[in-house]
Amino acid sequence: MGERKQDKLLNIRTSGIREWNDYMAFHYNRYEATPYKALKELKKNYSFTATDKVLDFGCGRGRVAFYIHNHFQIPVTGIEANQKTYEEVLENKSLYLRKAKHITAPIEFYYGLAQHYIIDKTHTCFYFFNPFSVHIFRKVVDNILHSVEKDRRKVDLILYYPTPAYTDFLKLSTPFEIADEIKVPGATDVKEKFLIYRLPDEFF
Ligand SMILES: C[S@@+](CC[C@H](N)C(=O)[O-])C[C@H]1O[C@@H](n2cnc3c(N)ncnc32)[C@H](O)[C@@H]1O
Repeated sequence: MGERKQDKLLNIRTSGIREWNDYMAFHYNRYEATPYKALKELKKNYSFTATDKVLDFGCGRGRVAFYIHNHFQIPVTGIEANQKTYEEVLENKSLYLRKAKHITAPIEFYYGLAQHYIIDKTHTCFYFFNPFSVHIFRKVVDNILHSVEKDRRKVDLILYYPTPAYTDFLKLSTPFEIADEIKVPGATDVKEKFLIYRLPDEFF
């Protein structure tokens, strides 16, 4: 099924690309949604539990947030720094909720910078599809680690299309370890996969 048809099932519009202007593009990456065929593999292979709360850093038009909320009926939060894109995710939210009234879990979106977002102690799953430079990623991961040190809990990072800059940083400078790799069938690009990072038991 095509991307637009899958959007229709959720009653949202998330296809397309939005570039930043040159100055912002230095640290902030463009909007582009995680492909539905990849999300389908994540759904099949990753066990979101009823107590999970997901945070998508750089949620764009919200595809990942709506997809997870719809299939797992758990709370999802999205943060987006591009004002136009944020307005689009809010439009999507009102369209989506017309069809998803029966789902009681909250779905929320915030306009702002991921690196400034105050992580709640209930957040357990952090999603990244290359939203920004590794410089900002460092700051966000640091915020996650501080939050976990303050309120001890199991947390996962889910990276789609992981870049060496992100994976080298996690390997060399953080306690996170790879817990799983979820491949996308038929992918020709080796980066078309998810890497799940988890804190080892020794951390706790
Ligand atoms: C590749 S898109 C991913 C969209 C969505 N997570 C998905 O997978 O479908 C990255 C998004 O991150 C946003 N972004 C870039 N820098 C950001 C920042 N510092 N804080 C929040 N969002 C940011 C971009 O505007 C863009 O919408």
